[in-house]
Amino acid sequence: MQLNPKQKDVWETYICEKPKIMVCSGAKRAGKTFVLILVFLAHMSKYEDKGLSFIIGGATQASIRRNVLNDMEDILGKELKLDKTNAVEIFGNKVYCFDGANADAWKKARGFTSAGAFLNEATALHDMFVKEVISRCSYQGAAVFMDTNPENPAHTVKTDYIDNDGQRLKSGRLNIKAFHFSLFDNIYLDPEYVESIVASTPSGMFTDRDIYGYWVAAEGVIYKDFNKEIHYVQSKDIKVKRFVKYFAGVDWGYKHPGSIVVIGEDDKSNLYVLEEHAKQHEEIDYWVDVAKDIKKRYGNINFYCDSARPEHVKRFRREKLRAINADKTVVSGIEEVARLFKLNRLYVVEDKVKLFKKEIFMYVWNENTGEPIKKWDDVLDSIRYAIYTQNKPARRRERAK
Ligand SMILES: Nc1ncnc2c1ncn2[C@@H]1O[C@H](COP(=O)(O)OP(=O)(O)OP(=O)(O)O)[C@@H](O)[C@H]1O
Ligand SMILES: [Mg+2]
Repeated sequence: MQLNPKQKDVWETYICEKPKIMVCSGAKRAGKTFVLILVFLAHMSKYEDKGLSFIIGGATQASIRRNVLNDMEDILGKELKLDKTNAVEIFGNKVYCFDGANADAWKKARGFTSAGAFLNEATALHDMFVKEVISRCSYQGAAVFMDTNPENPAHTVKTDYIDNDGQRLKSGRLNIKAFHFSLFDNIYLDPEYVESIVASTPSGMFTDRDIYGYWVAAEGVIYKDFNKEIHYVQSKDIKVKRFVKYFAGVDWGYKHPGSIVVIGEDDKSNLYVLEEHAKQHEEIDYWVDVAKDIKKRYGNINFYCDSARPEHVKRFRREKLRAINADKTVVSGIEEVARLFKLNRLYVVEDKVKLFKKEIFMYVWNENTGEPIKKWDDVLDSIRYAIYTQNKPARRRERAK
């Protein structure tokens, strides 16, 4: 097995300096988890048959399986089957797998004495859990290995560990060592794969974090790749397209405008925002009429709805409209829409939208929270709900490849 130069650096630091805490942060697919699994195994092998406890922490049991145990099985060449307590035996020691995303997750690690821990996707774990696990690693020579993608620079993984890179204990032992990975560090990835990731990652924060591995705050306009010269098309251009599917997105609103958009997919998998209906101070009866009119013209299509008003969703269903609760995961949904603009696979019929034209340039990140500012988002939210939910099965298929 060959390590890339950045991974070698991590490995050699472990062998030579044995830091108490090692953090690998950076780009997706850069090889962070892989090298830390190796290091973690090497670490455990030093305590062979001692009957000690080790910890693997991840957001969920499923993510631990997907991100850590599968690669570990490949490296060890044996199946790792968890017992009833979510533990598995490796090198004559017990490795406990804890899901650590929630505020009370730290209690799972309470009372433990551990000789080492691997924390996967550390920013997806609760800060209390991370700190509890570190304090549980009290056995002589214990070490903690963390990997993560970058997030907001104010995140505790950055401020409490990465920013203390090089810190030493009184004994002189290195306490914290941090490594930064970019996508280009993983020289064993297929160059075509790297090229396609770069081409499909939205500009700005997503590229800075996912490709270059920087801890940057989200700032400025959200849909940076929207280009009115490219992404606006006219009704007359649309007539020649062959549409294979239509669907709609619904964002309920009264004080703010409510909105319904209709999206069409052509035979080349390009999406077109075909219609925008945005209006303030309208009751549900109005939106039922709009949706029924859409149904009359496009057929019995899916309406992906904001789930915040279940009574409106129910009303749509009573009216025999195919109302489906949308997946509203904010940043991932934005990333999906932004990716389609970047790839020039999402277009907007300029003469059929109005509020969109303002929102697309006014919708901005809140630098402090890393979430969008909840203004100028009414039409954009309905587009996001529709596309993110509609594309869900395709995303799952892609991930499974
Ligand atoms: N030295 C290596 N030899 C062989 N395969 C490797 C090596 N390093 C990484 N890989 C493989 O490359 C892929 C990406 O590596 P890894 O999962 O470690 O990336 P990551 O930085 O943790 O990415 P993410 O942020 O997406 O979790 C994995 O399929 C892994 O098995
Ligand atoms: Mg990983």
